Amino acid sequence: MNGWRDNGQAQTARPASNRKGFLRRVLTLGTLAVVALAILAACGPEVDKPYSTTSPASPTADDVHSLYKLVFWLSLIVFVGVQFAIVYTALRFRRTRNARRRPPQIHGNTRLEITWTVIPAVILLIILIPTITTLYDHDAAAAEGDLTIEVNGKQWWWEVVYGENADGENLGIVTANEIRVPAGKEVIFKLKSNNVIHSFWVPRLSGKLDVIPGHENKLSITAEEPGVYQGECAEFCGTQHAWMRFSIVAMPEDEFYGWVNAMRVGNPGTTNQDAELPEGVTRAPANFNVCLACHQVNGFEGGAALVGMEAPKTFGPSLTNIACRDTIAAGMLINNPENLKQWIHDPGSVKPGNYMATQITPDTFSDEEVDELVDYMMTLQPAGGCDDFLSAPASPGATPAATPGATPAATPADD
Ligand code: CUA
Repeated sequence: MNGWRDNGQAQTARPASNRKGFLRRVLTLGTLAVVALAILAACGPEVDKPYSTTSPASPTADDVHSLYKLVFWLSLIVFVGVQFAIVYTALRFRRTRNARRRPPQIHGNTRLEITWTVIPAVILLIILIPTITTLYDHDAAAAEGDLTIEVNGKQWWWEVVYGENADGENLGIVTANEIRVPAGKEVIFKLKSNNVIHSFWVPRLSGKLDVIPGHENKLSITAEEPGVYQGECAEFCGTQHAWMRFSIVAMPEDEFYGWVNAMRVGNPGTTNQDAELPEGVTRAPANFNVCLACHQVNGFEGGAALVGMEAPKTFGPSLTNIACRDTIAAGMLINNPENLKQWIHDPGSVKPGNYMATQITPDTFSDEEVDELVDYMMTLQPAGGCDDFLSAPASPGATPAATPGATPAATPADD
């Protein structure tokens, strides 16, 4: 019915000119594919990639990258093989002008089917074995290290509580979002949450690990070289999930302990307007008491001291040495007086849905009072200034100056 003369025999010999044309086409297609690959490869110049998983800077990230490379090359081989088979088949067995006969009809081929079941199974095994080994190795590595740091996922920032070092000394300091660590030392991060699920991810230093209420996850990270490694929350956790960034700042060990000491001394001060000030104690404006209802300052008289899992989830980050922090609002704003004023004046316009906005509205403080608070907060730094603080550049995309109402990634509050 279809015009084919079906004599049940394979179509065999084809003219020599036809075969040459076929080869030419395969060569042309092959060349085009190589050129396209070369152009694609040239599209990725080595620029600053703070969130790249392909420039690992720790043994943990190196392991993850090795797995990635294994999967990538296996996928590439499969991809090229399949594409070649498709192109070859389409060209080699296409209907030609001279074709008179129906091609042989094939129904199943047991040998081929076994082959294309066994090959993927072997490929999956090649991926599975190193993946499971790496998982168990990383789990075992997180048992002990040179320093323990508890990280509590908050909505939407990270509370960082320093624990014991290798000498058994409890560093006992609390900070937020900028996690300073000694370079070359193995740090065990204990990840906790008393609210929703977050995910702790520093792409250049480690894979992601969920931060789950009621369950402590541990992660071992050794930042081999001093530097700043950007991190972010990688699990949707509410309105401002996109602005739950942090950084790991790896410092030479002596500089790290300089920073630890400065954080321990903190900022001695008082809001008592009548007290005679002892040496080294600064007077804070009376309104600073409003801040101290949720925030704490190390060394300050009578600040809120609840941290970790005991602290209500509405409590805010430690303000100790806040003047030396590079960003505020979890990597969202560059830390400068202008941005801090905007933040204190109306936190809800900067980061809609955040807990501070439930307490502080534009009616809470007058402009003069905000100025007074910010002037005071800019004095919250070590006696010798912020020099002990290796600069932690802002997360990419942080706003240099507050622009009310134009918050990036802001969605209407849903909670
Ligand atoms: Cu925390 Cu997303």
